Amino acid sequence: MKLSQAKTEIEALREEIRCHERKYYVDAKPEIPDTEFDMLMKHLEALEFEFPELITPDSPTQRVGGEPLKGFKQVTHKVPMLSLDNTYSEEELRAFDERVRKSLKIEPEYIVEPKIDGLAVNLFYKDGKFMQASTRGDGARGDDVSGNIKTIRAVPLKLPVKFELEVRGEVYLTKEELARLNKERETEGEELFANPRNAAAGSLKLLDPKQVAKRNLNIFLHTLGSAVDSGWTTHEEMLQALKKAGLPAVTPAQKCNTIGKVIDYVNSWESKRDSLPFEIDGMVIKVNSFEEQQVLGTTNKSPRYAIAYKFKARQALTKLLDILVQVGRTGILTPVAVLEPVHLSGSTISRCTLHNEDEIKRKDIRIGDTVIIEKGGEVIPKVVGVVESKRTGEEKIFKMPSRCPVCSSKVSRLGEEVAVRCQNVSCKAQLEGRVIHFTRRNAMDIENFGPAIVEKLIDTGKVKDYADLYYLEIGELSELERMGEKSALNLIEGLEKSKGNTLSRLIFALGISDVGENTAELLAGKYADLASLTCASVEELQKIRGIGPKVAESINNFFLESHNLKVIEKLAQAGVNTRRKKGELATGNKFKDMTFVFTGELLSLTRDEAEREVKKLGGAASGSVSAKTTFVVAGNEPGSKLAKAKKLGVKILDEEAFKELLR
Ligand code: IVH
Repeated sequence: MKLSQAKTEIEALREEIRCHERKYYVDAKPEIPDTEFDMLMKHLEALEFEFPELITPDSPTQRVGGEPLKGFKQVTHKVPMLSLDNTYSEEELRAFDERVRKSLKIEPEYIVEPKIDGLAVNLFYKDGKFMQASTRGDGARGDDVSGNIKTIRAVPLKLPVKFELEVRGEVYLTKEELARLNKERETEGEELFANPRNAAAGSLKLLDPKQVAKRNLNIFLHTLGSAVDSGWTTHEEMLQALKKAGLPAVTPAQKCNTIGKVIDYVNSWESKRDSLPFEIDGMVIKVNSFEEQQVLGTTNKSPRYAIAYKFKARQALTKLLDILVQVGRTGILTPVAVLEPVHLSGSTISRCTLHNEDEIKRKDIRIGDTVIIEKGGEVIPKVVGVVESKRTGEEKIFKMPSRCPVCSSKVSRLGEEVAVRCQNVSCKAQLEGRVIHFTRRNAMDIENFGPAIVEKLIDTGKVKDYADLYYLEIGELSELERMGEKSALNLIEGLEKSKGNTLSRLIFALGISDVGENTAELLAGKYADLASLTCASVEELQKIRGIGPKVAESINNFFLESHNLKVIEKLAQAGVNTRRKKGELATGNKFKDMTFVFTGELLSLTRDEAEREVKKLGGAASGSVSAKTTFVVAGNEPGSKLAKAKKLGVKILDEEAFKELLR
């Protein structure tokens, strides 16, 4: 096939795919079966494979592209992303209407939409092309989540019209998707998402778009940020134009010309909300005319032309029969309420988390109490209070156990932290999580180990702690279900290779609470081998720059646990490197004893990359400015750190000067 011919064919295919994507994801009216759609995609992929020079960023094949990110770039919103005032009653809605009418001196027309329970994002299109998407962040600046938003099929990468606009919306998961995701998380032993908002936020934080794509996120657009030459005069016109251009505008949107009609309409949704495939936690009332919106203006937090009417949370009374303690896979002990089963908006509830001991004390919840449980926009219900008048005097006060209910090791509570943890790395409840963490790419990077294999090894009793991995024999591995000799050999090779890892990787892999990759590097910088780290006192650890009292205590606690010392001994016996390697840390010492603080957006590299460069040259990166800071690097639109640096007389570099220093 000639290039020109391929080009025509590719473009035609893309148009066809875009059209079906829109019918499926925006209009919810698919026209062709999924298999046929997949064939069109495969055909396009094959052509693009043959003619890679014809791949464009707006091709439907590019929704999941590129390598996982190291961190998110910061984006400054052209127009700040505001929040909404909340109301809970008819009176407050009437008061809002009064204020609007008084200010406008006319009867406004309102438009009422569902308030989607999700996470706010901003999409930017230029020349009709998707350019960037960002989270709300602090309202002025957010994270660049373009790669993740592109995985949402309802977001067109190319529009049929050359719009230039910033448009805001809500990323959400349907009730069905959230249930599916939570089920998956439950089997993986991960914490469940309490509501669609947390699930959307958790998903957009993932650094690998391939993982995000699996979450099947969705989006509704509900607010215009800014637009060039749009000619739209009302919110309704804008929503219709978005829809016409294939953008997923929020629906339904109902016009009401009096506050009375607004109230009737929002009340009608209070009971209908369960019939929607997505969660809503209220309704949003907006003045329709853009001109009137302008007249009303905004406060620095929220617009005066819109308000959210929040639905009341749904509550029920039931009896608290008992409080159990569960151990999660990070070792955190969580008290769980065992309830007399009660029906609440569509489900029967018999258990719910009580989070931690402090929460129980604060709410004075006792075993035997009659409790009020509530479901707001929440999938997971919560205990909001106790009916004291129903107490009989027989109620029992709960106390957190001092030993882990699974392995009987002593539990500890670190500094100010509310969570109580079991620190034993061989504790059965945490074993799977710990072993998986140990094998991860940024930890010991043991190739070919996945959660399924780890689970089997634990279930069959072959692995009782992560050191056992190094004692596995090829025969034992190939006995595992669906594992051949070849795969078993690959696992052994992966294990062998990992024995030569750096000390900082090993420290990170141990899974000490609060010890991330950075802290692990600091520790490997201070201690030449694991043995000397295990003897370090809290005071000594605290002296290391970048390690605070809480982290020092956590490290010390970890090594006080005799189980852990045995596991470390086993690792060393197996031949795992426990000493700092030559050149494992900084490749230079040009920045020795220097601390850098970054503020604002850097153009040529992400903040993570910049910090890595600093560390490579022996320097430290910190999040806050103090008199000890050597340099503050100020990028675009720097924050308050710049002002602080000026006040303290800390040297300030711009991006160019910083890069000059790196050379
Ligand atoms: S309008 C100036 N419309 O609710 C802000 N917001 O609690 C205008 N939300 O930050 C927002 N559905 O993220 C608007 N139909 C809707 C919405 C909606 C959900 C979110 C939005 C906002 C938050 C305020």
